[in-house]
Amino acid sequence: MKDALRYAPLVVDEIDELAEILCNEPVYRHIGGVPSLADFELHHRRALNGPRPGGAPEVWVNIAVRHAVSGKLVGRLEATAHADLAEAAFLYDPAVWGKGYATSGLNWLKDYLRRYDTVRTLWGTTVPQNHRSAALMRRCGFVEVPAVDLPELYSYDAGDLVFRCDLT
Ligand SMILES: CC(C)(COP(=O)(O)OP(=O)(O)OC[C@H]1O[C@@H](n2cnc3c(N)ncnc32)[C@H](O)[C@@H]1OP(=O)(O)O)[C@@H](O)C(=O)NCCC(=O)NCCS
Repeated sequence: MKDALRYAPLVVDEIDELAEILCNEPVYRHIGGVPSLADFELHHRRALNGPRPGGAPEVWVNIAVRHAVSGKLVGRLEATAHADLAEAAFLYDPAVWGKGYATSGLNWLKDYLRRYDTVRTLWGTTVPQNHRSAALMRRCGFVEVPAVDLPELYSYDAGDLVFRCDLT
């Protein structure tokens, strides 16, 4: 890919900028509908606060993706690690879809998660209508698995396609 991208932990000061690129109908078409700006901000503030103290051990990874040269924010990567697995999410500005940015991002996230010894597999779920999401995971080496005898997946809803990627 020609365009170099920069990955860094998302911070609270970036939430408004993130809303400008993500809080729109194309992004939320298959993931619950466009939230209000207030809900978008609350969701991201909670995500950045991290897991509840005293709960089961979890790691919440929130990454801002920017063009390395212009510094423009283009997307967000997320991973929630629990038990021996992690679950991924990826949301990009529709203006940059179709350029391979999300492919680079998900491959980056796979490498990043290898630092956590306990995380053996990375999982992703999507409604069947979200063809771009399913294609992205396949392109990044995920394999679709039947939705039976699944481990606990926070992101799974009945009817979702389920994808798994071995990180070992
Ligand atoms: C899911 C999502 C991240 C996928 O984005 P995307 O733009 O399709 O993915 P990429 O950036 O990797 O682009 C892939 C496309 O670029 C093309 N491409 C061009 N250059 C490429 C390159 N160097 N490497 C890989 N693909 C490249 C691919 O062929 C593919 O084209 P296609 O869409 O015609 O099949 C995006 O659609 C999105 O943000 N959706 C809304 C949020 C969402 O639903 N997220 C999923 C649940 S969390």
